Amino acid sequence: MLNQRRGDGSLRHLITLEGLPRAELDALLDHAQRYVCALGARPPMNRALAGVTLGNLFTEPSTRTRVSFELAARRLGAEVINLEVQLSSRAKGETMLDTIHTLESLHFDGFVIRDSEPGVVAHVAAHVAPHVSVFSAGEAHLSHPTQGLLDALTVRQHKGVRFDSLSIAIVGDIKHSRVARSAYDVFTGLGVGELRLIAPPALMPANGEFPDGRRFTTPEQGLRGADVVMMLRIQKERMAQAEIPDGEQYFARYGLTAPRLRLAKPDAIVMHPQPMNRGIEIDSEVADGPQSVIRDQVRNGVAVRMAVLESVLRPRPVRA
Ligand code: NCD
Repeated sequence: MLNQRRGDGSLRHLITLEGLPRAELDALLDHAQRYVCALGARPPMNRALAGVTLGNLFTEPSTRTRVSFELAARRLGAEVINLEVQLSSRAKGETMLDTIHTLESLHFDGFVIRDSEPGVVAHVAAHVAPHVSVFSAGEAHLSHPTQGLLDALTVRQHKGVRFDSLSIAIVGDIKHSRVARSAYDVFTGLGVGELRLIAPPALMPANGEFPDGRRFTTPEQGLRGADVVMMLRIQKERMAQAEIPDGEQYFARYGLTAPRLRLAKPDAIVMHPQPMNRGIEIDSEVADGPQSVIRDQVRNGVAVRMAVLESVLRPRPVRA
């Protein structure tokens, strides 16, 4: 695995949350919390990253993540350019590194990368110049670290900082979900009391994965007494045609409806990373209901990305 730290131990890249110590996760979340602001208020801005240039390289669709990285960078005074560049196998090897080195010559200080191929983000990180940082905005089915952090921040805002007293249920297509993997990393890193995985057998991850998760094949068993219910989108783009579950049947067995949500604690919160398939994994009544914190997740995305960008791209000397 790529070392995402500098020689002094500070984070140089953010590619995974795996192995981040609790104190570091807490510090990032505290930092992000300072950037959270009420809707309708003027968002906090500063010049902490003035003079820094970031490139957004997204080769998979994204709305929320791309826009919120961009807003986060701009609110810290950085320059952001959306780059139309191919990174994956189609352009691997020389071409990809040539592209990166060309961009370095144009004084890019960091790249925010989303790609469907495992390893591309780390490959770029391993080959960029020492002053350049790489941020994952979603790597294949493997990880989505800033989503993990914004999910943790959302839980903390509603349930407090004591994760050891919480039972968190992740429901749906866990097998193909980078959101679930980063959620697992951050929640276990923060010492969660209990993590439950609820999925049909075909969408359950392999046995060696999520070692601390308790597995359930029905929401009726798995949702009982949960404090947090995190729903996932069915990742059709990561499945063979034959694997794709029938929407109506899936909703009947696994969709989060109001009666199913009543199995969880009365004050349980409902999360979803979006985009949502309403009527497949979640009923609109629940998605738009009083227990839903889905909009808080989006708002927290900008704050978390500000904290991550600022922590990693610490002020650099201005070169003549
Ligand atoms: C997620 C993603 O792309 O991984 N979306 C997001 O970043 N908010 C989840 C998904 O697409 O299901």
